[in-house]
Amino acid sequence: MKRFSFLFQYIVNPKTVGAILPSSRFLGDKMVEQIDFNKAKYIVEYGPGTGVFTEKLLKKRNPKTIILLVENNQEFYSLLREKFRREKNLLIVQGSAEHIDLHLRKHSIPYADYVISGLPFASLPKQVSYKILLNTSKILDKEGQFITFQYTKFKKAFIEQFFGKIDVKRELRNFPPAFVFNCSMLEKNVEEIYGVQNSYC
Ligand SMILES: C[S@@+](CC[C@H](N)C(=O)[O-])C[C@H]1O[C@@H](n2cnc3c(N)ncnc32)[C@H](O)[C@@H]1O
Repeated sequence: MKRFSFLFQYIVNPKTVGAILPSSRFLGDKMVEQIDFNKAKYIVEYGPGTGVFTEKLLKKRNPKTIILLVENNQEFYSLLREKFRREKNLLIVQGSAEHIDLHLRKHSIPYADYVISGLPFASLPKQVSYKILLNTSKILDKEGQFITFQYTKFKKAFIEQFFGKIDVKRELRNFPPAFVFNCSMLEKNVEEIYGVQNSYC
């Protein structure tokens, strides 16, 4: 897909696409740099778009590692199916990350070691973000990580409520420059999260 087409998808779906260009390869490198590819059995990616982060995951993964992509845009989904048609152990779902528990169950995946996200939490409806983050905290392995990028730190406190700890890194070689949030489930559990966020249900 040409850049114009990504821009076109943004014009048609500004709140869910959330960016006028795909991420840079530098941001892609930063998104995957903390993944332990020797240990990871299951990796999930939300909102892969044209597959900038997927390419990095495929290049570095153990061939036995199963990768599940969840993309809700029909055009991006079709492009991903075509682009990665020869890949083994790569599952591509057209649907919303809100229902990640169902997507995993359907494909007999018990949990995720890592969830990589390109979702634009700044522009998604708050209830949608809430559901995605809560369900992500439920399907992540205890030692797993949720890795997302954002253009500002505006949503950091919101995201932090679902995970115990967030390490933030900056990548300037992206348009616009971005922050990478590495979120781990070290201290909080889902019951505590429910207590904090119940009002968004
Ligand atoms: C900012 S773009 C990121 C694309 C790509 N990861 C990148 O960095 O170039 C956001 C992507 O999230 C997808 N998306 C938005 N809401 C979604 C949802 N609820 N479930 C799955 N994908 C979603 C959009 O269709 C789009 O592909």
